[in-house]
Amino acid sequence: MATALVTGGAGYVGTHTCVALMEAGWEVAVLDSLENSSSAAIDAVAEVVGRGLRLYVGDCRDNSAVERALTEAGPDAVLHFAGLKSVPDSVADPVRYYRHNLESTSVLLEAMARHGVRRIAFSSSAAVYGLCKELPVSETAATRPANPYGWTKLISEQMISDVVRSDPRWSASLLRYFNPVGAHPSGIIGEDPEGAPANLMPYLLQVAVGRRAELPLYGTDYPTPDGTALRDYIHVMDLAEGHRAALEALVSSAGQVHTYNLGTGRASSVRQVVAALREATGHPLPCREFKRRAGDVAELWADPRKALLELGWSADRTLAEMCRDAWAWQSAHPQGYRR
Ligand SMILES: NC(=O)c1ccc[n+]([C@@H]2O[C@H](COP(=O)([O-])OP(=O)(O)OC[C@H]3O[C@@H](n4cnc5c(N)ncnc54)[C@H](O)[C@@H]3O)[C@@H](O)[C@H]2O)c1
Repeated sequence: MATALVTGGAGYVGTHTCVALMEAGWEVAVLDSLENSSSAAIDAVAEVVGRGLRLYVGDCRDNSAVERALTEAGPDAVLHFAGLKSVPDSVADPVRYYRHNLESTSVLLEAMARHGVRRIAFSSSAAVYGLCKELPVSETAATRPANPYGWTKLISEQMISDVVRSDPRWSASLLRYFNPVGAHPSGIIGEDPEGAPANLMPYLLQVAVGRRAELPLYGTDYPTPDGTALRDYIHVMDLAEGHRAALEALVSSAGQVHTYNLGTGRASSVRQVVAALREATGHPLPCREFKRRAGDVAELWADPRKALLELGWSADRTLAEMCRDAWAWQSAHPQGYRR
C-alpha cells in the first residue's frame, strides 16, 4: 500500500483529502503544527474512514520535525498543504507570510531530497492569477498575484518547478484551487476557522448557528446579473478527489511539472450562495450591504478542462450539495472541533 505524507493535513482541505486518499487505499501520515487546527480533526478523519492515521505535531519550517515524519512514515509522495492562507493578513504583514510559506516549502523540499522522496502535490491557489481579465481562467493565463499571499504561492510553484528541472527523477503537481466550500457529507469533518471567517460560506454558517448577527456583503454594483461578485465554488470533496487523481498521476510523470486548475467551470454570485444556504439551513441569514472592497474582482472562474483531459477528474457536485454538506457539519458542530 502506498503512503502519503500530508503536511497541514489537520486543516480544512487536508482533512478531506486524507479521507479521499484513505478511502482509495492509501496509508496516510500527517505533519501539522496545529496552529490553525486541532488533533480532534485527525480523530474525526479516522472516524469517517474507520481506520487510523498517524499525526506528527510539528512545523514544516523545523527541519527536525520534517526529518522525523519522513523517516518514520517513509512516504512515497508528499501533499503540501501547510501554510498561512489569509489574504488580508498577508497584506498587513507580508514578511511573515513570505517567511512562513517559503520557508515551509524550502525546508520540506530539502528534506524530501535527502530522503529520496521525489513526488509532490502542492496546494496553490487561483490567487496566482490576480486580477485576471480573460475568463474562464486557464492554466496558461498570465500570473500576476494581487497580494503577498498569492506571491508566496507563485514563488513556491517556481521553487518546486526548479527542483524538478534540476533532477528529472522528481515529479510535481501544482494545484490551483478556486473557492473550496462544503464538507464531507457525514458532517463529521468540516471547516473550522479561527476568529472571524475570511470567506463567504463559513461566515454565513456562523450566522446560521447564531455566532454572528449578519453577513457583511461587499459590493452590490458589480457588472454582473445581480450586482454581486461571481466566483467558482468547488465542493471540498471534489477538490479532495482531485488531489488523489493528481497524486496517482505523479507515479508516471518523472521529470514533469503539471499545473491544474481545480474548479467547476461554473460561477455563482454572492446572492446565489446566500439563497442556496437559506434553502439548506432554513435560516433567514440577514445581510448588510457595503461598498466594494479594494482588490476584489467582479468575476473569476476556472477553465478546468485540462484536469478532465489529463487526470479524468471533474468537479460535479452542485451548489445545493455544497450547502447541504456544509450545514450537516456546522449544525452538528456549532462551535467547531475544539469546543
Ligand atoms: N481554503 C481555501 O480557500 C484555499 C484556497 C486556495 C488555496 N488554499 C491553500 O490550501 C492549503 C490548505 O488550506 P486550508 O483551507 O485547508 O487551510 P487550513 O488553515 O485549514 O489548513 C492549513 C493547515 O496547515 C497547518 N500549518 C500551517 N503552517 C504550518 C507549518 N508551517 N507547518 C505545519 N503545519 C502548518 C495548520 O495548522 C492547518 O492545519 C493552504 O496552503 C492554502 O493556502 C486554500
